[in-house]
Amino acid sequence: MKLSIILGTRPEIIKLSPIIRELEGRNLDWSLIHTNQHYSENMDRIFFQELNLPNPKYNLGVGSGTHGEQTGRMLIKIEKVLLKERPDVVIVQGDTNTVLAGALAASKLKIKVAHVEAGLRSYDKNMPEEINRVLTDHISDYLFAPTEKAKNNLLKEGIEENRIFVVGNTIVDATLQNLKIAEKNEHIKEFFKNISNEEGYFLLTLHRAENVDNKERLKNIIDAITKITEIYDKNIVFPIHPRTEKRLKEFNLFDKLKSNKKIKIIEPIGYLEFLILEKNAELILTDSGGVQEESCILKVPCITLRDNTERPETLEVGSNILVGDDKNKIINAVELMLNKKRDWKNPFGDGKSGKRIVEILMSK
Ligand code: UD1
Ligand code: UDP
Repeated sequence: MKLSIILGTRPEIIKLSPIIRELEGRNLDWSLIHTNQHYSENMDRIFFQELNLPNPKYNLGVGSGTHGEQTGRMLIKIEKVLLKERPDVVIVQGDTNTVLAGALAASKLKIKVAHVEAGLRSYDKNMPEEINRVLTDHISDYLFAPTEKAKNNLLKEGIEENRIFVVGNTIVDATLQNLKIAEKNEHIKEFFKNISNEEGYFLLTLHRAENVDNKERLKNIIDAITKITEIYDKNIVFPIHPRTEKRLKEFNLFDKLKSNKKIKIIEPIGYLEFLILEKNAELILTDSGGVQEESCILKVPCITLRDNTERPETLEVGSNILVGDDKNKIINAVELMLNKKRDWKNPFGDGKSGKRIVEILMSK
């Protein structure tokens, strides 16, 4: 059995790392294809270095662009590589344009598609990710659903049960494996010492297109964050996604944010650094998918700056709350979540998803 893994962005590198580690430990024929949808050092290379991942066999250099341009370039380039590699199965993870292009290129060449993190649904077609997820699931042969809920979403759409495997989410593997490494790392300890303070801090990430590309929504969120710094004696640490920095500058919101002494805007950081920042935060505010999961796993309360989530398990266990871009809701949620008892159960599995996925594929 010959496998190819296709990845392209920060969360895919992180969430596929447990599968890559698992493949490396076995004598298998496999290759790594990187679309380079993400390419900045701190959105890409840093994760290969910190997670000790092998260099991709193919770097397709696709980069940024409109959805059509980016996905189209990926399709053309991935097809060429797949015709050369001729894998039996292509593995993709998540819901980015890389995932859709990888799955589509493979399925048209009659190569089997394994979709890791299948079955997530926000039921919000305004999100490009929702379109990518639904389409990818419907052309996949092996659907690795993280939870029973995700499996049920797939069943409701008519996908055959024998294609679906509930295996947990590889983010649990990645979090647990790398937190241990991060906690022992002197460089990370030093990083943490420099960034944290005695009063404690909140952690913020923001990058969803529907939030940051919309001036009004972005302004509402920034206003709420600013108000929170006035109410609470806490810093807000904000590793800023390149998309968000670009938009804040375009909308003339960046300078005011930067001049707020309690908001620590930093470049995007490595996974080990980020895990330590998450683990020690009093509260996390985010619109990221992966961060909603990690905060749940690490027992840190989360406020999600979105109107919906494809991770409803986090709402059910009580680790997360949805507030959208409503200023009052965001501010009120801080008090609520700070008082939250951190005794919820992680619904995303036991940290052995990567192993399970490889074993299922090997048995086919
Ligand atoms: C993409 C995914 C999103 C995922 C996110 C993870 C799609 C449609 N979106 O969003 O689902 O949550 O990755 O972070 O696939 N840029 C850089 N350097 C980079 C990458 C991007 O500067 O390495 C800037 C460019 O200005 C680019 C913009 O960020 O135009 C957006 O990048 P893009 O890959 O299109 O989307 P993301 O917002 O990163
Ligand atoms: N992350 C990171 N450094 C950062 C911000 C996030 O390593 O500065 C990690 C985070 O731990 C999570 C992943 O990136 O595993 C989430 O990626 P992102 O929020 O970009 O995408 P999403 O999960 O929303 O698709």
